[in-house]
Amino acid sequence: MKLLVTGGAGFIGSEFIRYWMQHHHEDKITNLDLLTYAGNLENLKEVEENPNYNFVKGDICDRDLVFDLVKDVDLVVHFAAESHVDRSVLDSSAFLRTNILGTQTLLDAVKEYGKRFHHVSTDEVFGSLQLDDPAFDESTPYAPRNPYSASKAASDHLVRSYHITHGIKMTISNCSNNYGPYHFPEKMIPLFISNLMEDKTVPVYGDGDQIRDWIYVTDHVRGIEAVIEKGKIGETYCLGGKDAEVTNLELTKTMIKLLGKSEDLIEFVKDRPGHDRRYAINYAKAQKELGWEPLVGLEEGIQNTIDWFESHKEWADRCRSGEYQEYYNKQYHS
Ligand code: NAD
Ligand code: TYD
Repeated sequence: MKLLVTGGAGFIGSEFIRYWMQHHHEDKITNLDLLTYAGNLENLKEVEENPNYNFVKGDICDRDLVFDLVKDVDLVVHFAAESHVDRSVLDSSAFLRTNILGTQTLLDAVKEYGKRFHHVSTDEVFGSLQLDDPAFDESTPYAPRNPYSASKAASDHLVRSYHITHGIKMTISNCSNNYGPYHFPEKMIPLFISNLMEDKTVPVYGDGDQIRDWIYVTDHVRGIEAVIEKGKIGETYCLGGKDAEVTNLELTKTMIKLLGKSEDLIEFVKDRPGHDRRYAINYAKAQKELGWEPLVGLEEGIQNTIDWFESHKEWADRCRSGEYQEYYNKQYHS
């Protein structure tokens, strides 16, 4: 099979490519990525020499490029997005462009050439739960509450509408909060681990009582694999973590404990505007229909992530300084 992976230089997309190339030796992957601040070719070092892997630097909004690439593959796996809620609060323009118009461009190409499309989405499209609400599932109505989740909700609706109107062969996965190796160190878990390693304070928003359902990134990628291989065309699958619903404060204390640091490093800062209270996923459909379930528990996954960041200090330093762009120039322009 030939795959076009969009956003494969980011956190989850790069895990997908590393995983797929390890488990599907025959397949060929083209990775289309614009290399925004979040895209990093260092994440793909272990596959870059593989003859079945090919990198194209480009924009999913570039119609000619997208049509050229889609024409040549069997399946598009769409990760590319602006993904950070806090950035969408500061300026939503890039979110609407990439997440909505970029998805539309891919859908037009998929429609034109009759290719299979898997759309990687988030549980944030369902909005915010109260403490005693049942977890999100595939029947939960959409109710996004920040520009990031609104743009992802729009892209999900577009994907489904192209299936109903134009008959494209699509599936969607809506997954909870990911964490693990290569996580860009401005998101909560990698930021807190990096700060704690240097005995710096960690900025907990508001009262720290918000709840997230954390999934180890490899479990998410295995879920996407299961949807690609066994999912029904036109269907959505919710993917979530293994008993991993915790408050931000509890999670912060777990990281502090595993790193052997002091809780005095917790600093409560101004809350995020419109901060969603709770996300939680009921993944019973994926479990029943795909035989998928998450395997990595929260404490085990956090320990793996800490171990990875402790052995990849330079990676995090380079991400933070923007130095990784130099790697790209060296690798492709020298
Ligand atoms: P990320 O920000 O780490 O990576 C995004 C990648 O997309 C980067 O490599 C970036 O360079 C690329 N990109 C951005 N704009 C582009 C454009 N116009 N053209 C081509 N490439 C472009 O994001 P991530 O955390 O890996 O998330 C990947 C996908 O998974 C996103 O669609 C996100 O909505 C979804 N998702 C993320 C989470 C999470 O917890 N991170 C949870 C569920 C779903
Ligand atoms: P984040 O990793 O940005 O994911 P999302 O907002 O998509 O769930 O944040 C996870 C949670 O951590 C969220 O409730 C916001 C909170 N948070 C902090 O308390 N401090 C921080 O510095 C960051 C980045 C996030």
